Amino acid sequence: MKFGVLGSGAVGHAIGNKLIQLGHEVCMGSRESSNEKGLAFARANTPKSTNGTFADAAEVGEVLFNCTSGKASLDALAIAGEKNLAGKVLVDVANPLDFSKGMPPSMLTPSTDSLAEQIQRAHPKCKVVKALNTMNCALMVDPKRLSSGNHDVLMCGNDKGAKGQVSELLQSFGWKSIIDLGDLTAARGLEMFLPLWVRLYSTFQTPDFNIKVVR
Ligand SMILES: NC(=O)c1ccc[n+]([C@@H]2O[C@H](COP(=O)([O-])OP(=O)(O)OC[C@H]3O[C@@H](n4cnc5c(N)ncnc54)[C@H](OP(=O)(O)O)[C@@H]3O)[C@@H](O)[C@H]2O)c1
Repeated sequence: MKFGVLGSGAVGHAIGNKLIQLGHEVCMGSRESSNEKGLAFARANTPKSTNGTFADAAEVGEVLFNCTSGKASLDALAIAGEKNLAGKVLVDVANPLDFSKGMPPSMLTPSTDSLAEQIQRAHPKCKVVKALNTMNCALMVDPKRLSSGNHDVLMCGNDKGAKGQVSELLQSFGWKSIIDLGDLTAARGLEMFLPLWVRLYSTFQTPDFNIKVVR
């Protein structure tokens, strides 16, 4: 399958590499097609990967990942272009955190909204599924990294079919416990978990931890 990974940071690379490892094709998008990180990704994974602009990645991908900075995701997706997003599943991994005033970060969205909902409103024909944003990128693509048994990946979205597709994809990443929280308003909680994640990270001094919901 062909994927468009929008974002050339650590998350874009982790997701892109995992997709390549699973036999998929990946186009990595950046603001400029000359982006060094995008070029390096394409070189390292040729011929299964290419790089280009956000619009190139969104056009090529049958399924898309938003791995851009939370404060810039709406701009990046506007560059990707409505015609390239329409009808496609977009897995939104981004977090709307504001580090401009240092630590701890604050949220860029009010508690009555979320970045995922903003993206969905801006691109109503796109099927936004929020997932994987509550953990470090190494864990997103390698849940076995934590030896302490099953832990959870949480997701939400308005389109049942899109969530089914993302669930299958997550299973191929190795996830066994996938909790569907319902419609996209659940993204508010998923994104608001991040200030706590950042605090846990600073307490544990490692990003190797995750949510496990005990019932
Ligand atoms: N790091 C993690 O482990 C982790 C875990 C969970 C969730 N997340 C979330 O995943 C997302 C990606 O994180 P990251 O650490 O890989 O990278 P990042 O540094 O947060 O974002 C990098 C990407 O954002 C794009 N970008 C930055 N400013 C932009 C602007 N003004 N307009 C358009 N695009 C812009 C960059 O474009 P160029 O390629 O053109 O430079 C790049 O592709 C973030 O939202 C983050 O909160 C990260």
